[in-house]
Formats: sequence, C-alpha cells, structure tokens
Amino acid sequence: MHHFQLRNNELYAEELKVSDLAEEFGTPLYLYSAATLKRHYQAFDSAFQGLDHLTCFSVKCNSNLGVLRLLNEQGAGADIVSGGELYRALRAGMDPRKIVFSGVGKQEHEIREALEADILMFNCESREELYLLNAVAEGLGRIAPMSLRINPDVDPLTHPYISTGLKENKFGVGMDQALDLYELARDLPGINPLGIDCHIGSQLTEISPFIETLDRLKKLYQDLLDRGINVKYLDLGGGLGITYAEEEPPHPSEFGQALTQALQDFDLTLILEPGRVIAGNAGILVTRVLFNKETELKRFVVVDAAMNDLIRPALYQAHHRLAEVRPQARTESEADVVGPVCETSDFLARSRRLPEVQPGELLAVFSAGAYGFAMASQYNSRPRAAEVLVDGDRAFAIRKRETYQDLTALEEGL
Ligand code: LLP
Repeated sequence: MHHFQLRNNELYAEELKVSDLAEEFGTPLYLYSAATLKRHYQAFDSAFQGLDHLTCFSVKCNSNLGVLRLLNEQGAGADIVSGGELYRALRAGMDPRKIVFSGVGKQEHEIREALEADILMFNCESREELYLLNAVAEGLGRIAPMSLRINPDVDPLTHPYISTGLKENKFGVGMDQALDLYELARDLPGINPLGIDCHIGSQLTEISPFIETLDRLKKLYQDLLDRGINVKYLDLGGGLGITYAEEEPPHPSEFGQALTQALQDFDLTLILEPGRVIAGNAGILVTRVLFNKETELKRFVVVDAAMNDLIRPALYQAHHRLAEVRPQARTESEADVVGPVCETSDFLARSRRLPEVQPGELLAVFSAGAYGFAMASQYNSRPRAAEVLVDGDRAFAIRKRETYQDLTALEEGL
C-alpha cells in the first residue's frame, strides 16, 4: 500500500496533485511519500516485535538526509557500506549504536571513522579485513565489535546481479573458513567476535531461501558455542522484495512470523537490514513527455528522464510500472519509453502498452524510491533531479535540482 493514488483522474502524492508538484519543482522529479515511508517502516519493524531486534535501514537504497531523518524519528538504525554513508547517517542524527557497517572492501580511513563514531558492528568479509580491523582498532586503543559475514551458498532466486549468497559471489566467507576466522578474530586483541552476519540477495519473493540460510547459520552458532565462542547478534541482512509488476512477495508480517518461529529457542538479538521494502514503493519518478516518434518498426515516447536518473531498467532489465499523471481515455499501443541519453540502453520501459500521450504531458514511474536517485549520475552532463518529500498537504524540497554550475564546480579554479 502506498500513497500515490488516483483521485478524479488525477494522480496524487498524499494530499497534493503530482501535476502541481511537477509545475513547482520541475521534471524529472523524485517524489517520496512520508506516510508511506512511515507505514512501511512500522509494518516491517512491528513484524519482529516478538524478538529482540534492531531494524537498520539500508542507506544505499535511498540516502537522502530527509528520508534518513524521517526513518530515524521512527526508530530506525542504519546499515551502511561506506564512510560516505556513515557521514550521512550521522548527519541525519542516527544513533551510532544502531549502525552496522557492511561491505566487502572497507578502507582503513572508513574503519577508523566508524570506530571513532563507536558504531554497533562491523560486518567483516575476509581474513585480510580482520587483520586491518584489528590493526586500526589497536591503534585507536579500541576493541572492534565484529560479525563475520557468511556466504551460505543459498540461491535467493532473484536477478543474478543482485544475488549475493552464492558460492561464486564475492561476498562473505564460506562455511568451510568460518570457524577458523572466528577463532582468529577471538585471538586478535582488537576484535570482539559478537555476531553472525549474512545477506543473500535483494528483491527476494520467497521466504524459503531465508529459512534455509537461517538453518545453516543456526548450525554455525552451535559449532561456535562448542568452541567457546558465544555470539550475541544474528544479522540476516535485507532483501525482502516488493511488487513492481506481478510479483507477490511475502508481507513483512509473514516474513517476521517465519523468522520469529525459526529463532524461538535462540537467545540472540536479530538485526535486519531492509532497504527496498521500506523505500521502494514510497517513491515515484515524474517525467514529462518530450516527443513522439514512430519508426518503421516501433513507437517511441521520448521523455525527459533517462537512465542517468533511473538506471534499473537498463542495468537489470527491471520493470517499473508507468502511468499518466492525468489519465485520459485514448487508444493504446505498444511503445518504448526512452530518455534523451545517447545510449540504446536508455529506456524506462520497453514494449509497454501506453495511451497516445502528447508532448508536455506527465508520466509517473512507480516503485522508484529505492535504488532510484541513489544510483543516479550526471551522465551526458545532465544535472541530477530534485527530490521532494510530501507529508500530507505539505511538500519539502529535500534535495535541490542540480545546476550547470554544479556540474563543473569541482573542476574549476584548480
Ligand atoms: N544489506 C546488505 C549487506 C546489502 O548488500 C543490501 C543490498 C541490503 C542490505 C538491502 O537490500 P534490500 O532490502 O534493499 O533488498 N541496485 C539493486 C539492488 C542492490 C542491492 C545491494 N545490496 C537494484 O536496484 O535492484
């Protein structure tokens, strides 16, 4: 459920007309709904109320300060993967004791920054990372709290580019190495092995891969106990999918119930790192039609948003629902909706049934709140879009549209 709905043939973002917002802030425009973000966060978090748990929003999917502040007010922690994300989370006022640091390639300065901020946990992924974490922690006279990220070799049944828990993926350490690395971590003076971590992939539409993973991790937990290592945290990562088109992912409550049941006899704090399930359907990208173009083979609708604004269709063949902001009864036919960028992969939709929209009209690209703006670039020297947060009948610009000056600012006066 989200708050981008039609009323009297006009798309609204909560209480505001999307067409008015497009007029005021220009296009392409990212619009987020505060009520949807809150609702999704609460639906997810409350699904785990039967367990000692911490919900750490995965900052990578939408790192806007306005969004992070809102989620912080709801009680969220943060899952970060870089010093930049740590900076953003702290700027948004997030509690460092609710921050976990994931990622396969942490740099020395990033580790130092996170230690100085006193974050809850480092999710480590290799022997060499353990040595580096230990050295930096010792240098600062600290002991780093650590979870080892396990690669359980479970198929998440999702797009190969967003599968992370298979043997062939770069992420985590295999079960065969895990015990040795925990023993190493225990013996290193700058590290305290406190948890088990895992993230098997993104946009999962089944619960079974999570449960299969959990079974493997529970076995590891026992093996660790047998070796005198008693971890306190279990981080299951993110990955719960959303509906873009016809998918029917489990509702967070179902997901929560299944995990609660599976973890009943375990005295562990569960950490979750949801991203998409909270922000994905809380955002849309609004774009204006520039031209219609018919070739011998195809109908193209050229719009002012492009792959630099939303790269998911080009990168993952992702489907985003697309609709008129002011629907009219008109003939429909198949069209490719494409942007101005000079690449054949620059499309928002392909072979999609679409009414005969005219130049100047607005289209909404749905499910763009996660991995939308966060993956945007300035490719083709296109200033990045503005981001606006709608809360009831109020709209807050939470990121200004970039200007031409922004494009060259860091290249001038050198
Ligand atoms: N935790 C870790 C360690 C992750 O790597 C990710 C996502 C998450 C949590 C959050 O996963 P989520 O709940 O959002 O599925 N750009 C791609 C998705 C990449 C996901 C990367 N890792 C897309 O647009 O589909």
